[in-house]
Amino acid sequence: MSDKKKILVIQSIHKAGIDLLENHPNFDFEVIENLDTENIISKISECDALSIRTAKLPADLINNSKKLQIISRHGVGYDNIDTQAAKKNNITLSITATANAVAVAEHVMFMLLNISKRKDMYDSTVKSGKFVERNKLPKTIELWNKNILIAGFGRIGQCLIKRCKGFEMNVFIYDPFVSKEIIEKLGGKKVDNLANAVKDMDAISLHIPLNKDTENLINYSLLKTMKKNCILINAARGGIINEVDLDKALKENLIFGAGLDVFHTEPPDESNPLLKNDKVMLSPHTAAFTEECMIRMGKETIQNIIDFFEKKLDKSKIIKL
Ligand SMILES: NC(=O)c1ccc[n+]([C@@H]2O[C@H](COP(=O)([O-])OP(=O)(O)OC[C@H]3O[C@@H](n4cnc5c(N)ncnc54)[C@H](O)[C@@H]3O)[C@@H](O)[C@H]2O)c1
Repeated sequence: MSDKKKILVIQSIHKAGIDLLENHPNFDFEVIENLDTENIISKISECDALSIRTAKLPADLINNSKKLQIISRHGVGYDNIDTQAAKKNNITLSITATANAVAVAEHVMFMLLNISKRKDMYDSTVKSGKFVERNKLPKTIELWNKNILIAGFGRIGQCLIKRCKGFEMNVFIYDPFVSKEIIEKLGGKKVDNLANAVKDMDAISLHIPLNKDTENLINYSLLKTMKKNCILINAARGGIINEVDLDKALKENLIFGAGLDVFHTEPPDESNPLLKNDKVMLSPHTAAFTEECMIRMGKETIQNIIDFFEKKLDKSKIIKL
């Protein structure tokens, strides 16, 4: 019998990651795209490690894994994985900690600029031959000297602040777990109370995990207190913003606009009112889908598995369960 470790790659990853497995003498691997529970159960029971993207890994699947030692998340969020079951089965959970902050931070700037510069309206004006009507269009908004609140000052928040500073924005940080010293060193101003802080913001960008404390954090009663020119961006996790409340707030002109990369349910149900709301800019959970980032994530998710079995997986990549 082969003593090679069996690696299950759930959902395909960039070839650069697969190359690491193909060239490694100690591993056998299989990539699966069929996410039916029966298929995953039959494969998971034999594997020593798995790499997973956004597919759900509930307790019953994890409990079926007799040999599984490491779950390597392709990405940094792990709300799709039952962490209690992983802990109970003594399974290590790793993330691609160094791969995607830049891509997500750039995506936030892309949304912020598109919304504030009314990209769709101005673009269609020219393309529909209405250039001469430009004086009748509603004006755009500058980022210069505007207040932005970054909620969550981890990897992505700390990458975003540099880009906001490049646009000479005033950056406020809401993250109870990061010290004033670290925030100020990077040019931000720490705020302790989210509800008070949002009232003065021209932009708000969310970079916190989804959990029981953050679910529906942005709801109608908070949206009601925001400035009318506020732009809200969520490239963290759906569920942090209440989507029905956001739709209502946008329709009532309580805020200027919103940019969402993530949704409560993915893909969003076709009845989701935000799909028909012109004041919201959407992307299909693709903030990290740059060519460069997909290569980094593909390599890191596999390298984490290799490093784990070679007993040199960096602590910063391991989630404390
Ligand atoms: N759209 C995408 O494709 C994409 C890609 C990567 C990450 N994400 C999501 O972005 C988010 C941030 O990722 P990261 O890599 O920066 O994570 P991180 O763990 O490095 O940072 C998260 C920060 O949030 C803070 N935090 C936790 N709970 C909080 C709370 N209740 N209020 C305020 N701050 C709180 C933590 O102290 C930490 O500093 C995660 O939700 C992740 O799932 C999305």
